[in-house]
Amino acid sequence: MDRAHRLVVVGAAPLIAAHRPGPETDPARLDRHASDVDVLHAPRAQRGTYQSSPRQGASDRDRSRPLATTSAAGRRAGAARHLATWRCGRALRRRECARRVHGRSVMIERILLLGASGDLTSRLLMPAIAELAEAELLPAGLRIVGSARRPWSTADFREHIATQLERHSKVAPATRDDVVRCLEYEPADVTRAEDVRRLVGGPERPGTLVYLALAPALIEPVLHALASAALGARDAVAIEKPFGVDLASARRLNGVLRCELPEPSIFRIDHFLSDELVRRVTALRFLNRIFEPVWNAVHVERVEISWLESLTLEGRAGYYDQAGALRDMVQSHLMEVMALVVMEPPSRADAASYRAARLEALRAVATPSLDEIRSRTLRARYTAGAIGTRRVPSYVDEPGVDPRRDTETYASLTLGIETMRWSGVPFTLRSGKAFATSAAEIAIHFRALPRYVRDTWPGVEPNTLRLGLTEPYVRVATTLDGPDGVAESRALELCASPPRRSVYANLMLDMLRGDPALFILGEEAEEAWRVIDPVIDAWHAGEVPMREYAAGASAPPSAERRRPTSIGATPQAP
Ligand SMILES: NC(=O)c1ccc[n+]([C@@H]2O[C@H](COP(=O)([O-])OP(=O)(O)OC[C@H]3O[C@@H](n4cnc5c(N)ncnc54)[C@H](OP(=O)(O)O)[C@@H]3O)[C@@H](O)[C@H]2O)c1
Repeated sequence: MDRAHRLVVVGAAPLIAAHRPGPETDPARLDRHASDVDVLHAPRAQRGTYQSSPRQGASDRDRSRPLATTSAAGRRAGAARHLATWRCGRALRRRECARRVHGRSVMIERILLLGASGDLTSRLLMPAIAELAEAELLPAGLRIVGSARRPWSTADFREHIATQLERHSKVAPATRDDVVRCLEYEPADVTRAEDVRRLVGGPERPGTLVYLALAPALIEPVLHALASAALGARDAVAIEKPFGVDLASARRLNGVLRCELPEPSIFRIDHFLSDELVRRVTALRFLNRIFEPVWNAVHVERVEISWLESLTLEGRAGYYDQAGALRDMVQSHLMEVMALVVMEPPSRADAASYRAARLEALRAVATPSLDEIRSRTLRARYTAGAIGTRRVPSYVDEPGVDPRRDTETYASLTLGIETMRWSGVPFTLRSGKAFATSAAEIAIHFRALPRYVRDTWPGVEPNTLRLGLTEPYVRVATTLDGPDGVAESRALELCASPPRRSVYANLMLDMLRGDPALFILGEEAEEAWRVIDPVIDAWHAGEVPMREYAAGASAPPSAERRRPTSIGATPQAP
């Protein structure tokens, strides 16, 4: 096996998986090459096919008991009793979720879903679980226990999720039914420690992933409550973004978490990192020699990372009006995308090195001064307009919005990176809602050619490399010598394969396997807040005026059209 192939197979998923479809579904290849991948698949002869029809008259709890039990005899008896479980003819067996992470195993046998009646669960989490069930990638015997305050029974919860899956998932009806039969529900108030202890269970509980699909304000009390539930080495906690609401709160959350669980068992979610399109950034850089030599301040003039969407509030004013574009998109997602552009190649192809490289990239982002915030940030809010044929009211008139909060629906800031590679190159991050069309991409703008070349070939344009973040394109704007020596602009375009799975299915699969590579470190969240906090403070203090743009605008607000071509220090050779 050559060295490059070994890198692909062993722990290289975060860098490379987007370019190697389904290594985890190719057991033969893993068998041959991946000596340090623990158990990712069962030999065919050991894979069982279990019945999924529920016993007549069985209680909810009986029907949801997992089929896989600890002994072979127990499993046979379970099958004979026709208890409900995944149809897992070729599914990974339970141990297949276990993977050595920093010298220990994570083995998830139960998901405890806190916030089970919420939007995230309905639209993204349960469809992702159903998608994995359909792809036979769920561990046999996995149990899913949902919880929220509303006094639902398991039957109510199943009915609710069945309706949501019908609306938001494309899986076959049989898979949907199987998934729904595996659900249980227990009402609880997660701010009460005794409720959380009851949900988590005693020391004999199965390895549990506690998924906090809860509003940011609830995370700290829940973590304190979880601290009293004595989570163990086989348990894990998943925390939705945003991680904290500022630097101080992120530090407090990290403080509680560090006392409770080893870092690899804490999954701080930034779902952009699990997006196969976003992951292509590192694959493009590190699997192709041609880009890395020009990936620096000598050749790159500026970088723009944009996420403009035509969506408005979509019924989420309660959350969005407290967050705004800067917290919702820039602090988490776009800063992480920037880290993938900025980072050095990881020293090893493993999760720890990959995360450390991202963290180093964020550490290198200069904290903006007040003067820089005044001149290099922009906030704006949409006014009434039309997106296509849809009339959109002014943001402040949207139901659930409190105009006194002064929340922005568009945010843009330009940052400098203090490294030998990037010093002097402005990185502009921008995101906004209610634009005419959605447009999300990374644009790497290369420096202009020397003057004598431009004089000889008028019209010669600097190269730009564009990577789509919602569409799988990679485009390089190039110039060719056309007829009669006239420069001709041409685009080289690669169309990568579309993503195999939804983002949340990727994310869930990584957690079930205990692979932390695509989840942010506590310090990554803190570094992002270090950069964003002064901007939020300056905006709240009125240092940067709130601008306006009409809903349905085709471009960001005009003050931003002057493009920065340098920031901080002069470009140096790397
Ligand atoms: N929705 C999305 O598209 C999306 C995308 C990415 C990230 N996120 C993140 O995911 C998290 C959840 O978002 P969401 O949109 O699902 O919020 P949501 O729709 O408001 O749901 C919140 C859930 O929390 C439960 N809850 C509230 N207080 C509780 C308490 N004291 N004890 C127990 N349960 C309680 C609610 O149920 P009861 O009222 O019945 O208690 C509900 O199930 C947030 O951090 C958000 O930022 C959401």
